Amino acid sequence: MTVDFHTAGETAGARGPARSDGLAGFDEDARLLEVVVTRRRQVADGVVALELARIDGAPLPPHAPGSHVDLHLGNGQVRQYSLCGDPDDAFRYRLGILRVDESRGGSRHVHTRVREGLQLLMSPPKNNFPLVADARHTLLFAGGIGITPLLAMARGLARLGRPFEIHYRARSRTRLAFVGELLDLAGPDRLTCYADDDPAPAKAFAAEAAIRRADPGVHVYVCGPRGFMDHVEEAARRAGVPEERVHEENFTNDVDLTGTPFTVVAARSNVTARVAADRTIAETLRDSGVQVPTSCETGVCGTCLTKVLAGEPDHRDVFQSPAQQRTDAAITLCCSRSRSEELVVDI
Ligand code: FES
Repeated sequence: MTVDFHTAGETAGARGPARSDGLAGFDEDARLLEVVVTRRRQVADGVVALELARIDGAPLPPHAPGSHVDLHLGNGQVRQYSLCGDPDDAFRYRLGILRVDESRGGSRHVHTRVREGLQLLMSPPKNNFPLVADARHTLLFAGGIGITPLLAMARGLARLGRPFEIHYRARSRTRLAFVGELLDLAGPDRLTCYADDDPAPAKAFAAEAAIRRADPGVHVYVCGPRGFMDHVEEAARRAGVPEERVHEENFTNDVDLTGTPFTVVAARSNVTARVAADRTIAETLRDSGVQVPTSCETGVCGTCLTKVLAGEPDHRDVFQSPAQQRTDAAITLCCSRSRSEELVVDI
């Protein structure tokens, strides 16, 4: 098995940047992999699983639980999807993708246009949601499609023989995906599924009670809609779990990109520009000829994370944890703004 888990002493939070300097960069996109969709199947209402292999038949890079890839959809859109397949299978990745009609269209494109045999570009795996493998106990809370990274974690923990539980909630029973696999990994005692349309639920979803029942050294992982994650994180806080043992991954950010104008200085490029109320820093710097790498453009993926040299950022991303944001060490140029009149960034 390929494992690159973090130990409790190595990770400070779920969303720590992957590079040692804490910043994403241009080299990520230079290593895009050419892949082909080898299998597509419906795994729940509104959820398809895609299996991907390299076009040249070579092995794919190894990946650890919590990893995701940036999938280039071929229509100019790039989306982040968790890897939820078997890391021992070096020739195949699996993604689970929910169709969200009210989103910006990435998942709709996957559901309507991405078929077996289609060739796509994909980043190597990135891991902003690493699993602490030596935790005394682990609770995995999934809301809807948030099950995908947690399925990979359940597989990793099961193979390491570590204690864990999964609490998996969806809007309806037909929207629960990968339940057979989860049952094989966790067994019936460690997997609890909750469907909001269940007329006679065996158990009500009670995150705080589950956390209080667990070992005091428990690590809590949560992935799903923002409201679900807020609920679980608040439950963990009330149960006394320290912030550094609560890990979340968020693939959506309903961000307001507008605000008051300010001046941005791109120190390495020697460019100074005025960011208008309805423009982002990334757009403004690009207009001035500065190359700004972006992917999600909503503060989710960390591709545009850049060191702050002076000024006070107005953080609007969900890539950095609140603790990371409080340091003001780095800013996502795609969506965040400035509270100070001038912001100096290292690009
Ligand atoms: Fe994804 Fe900025 S491009 S966080």
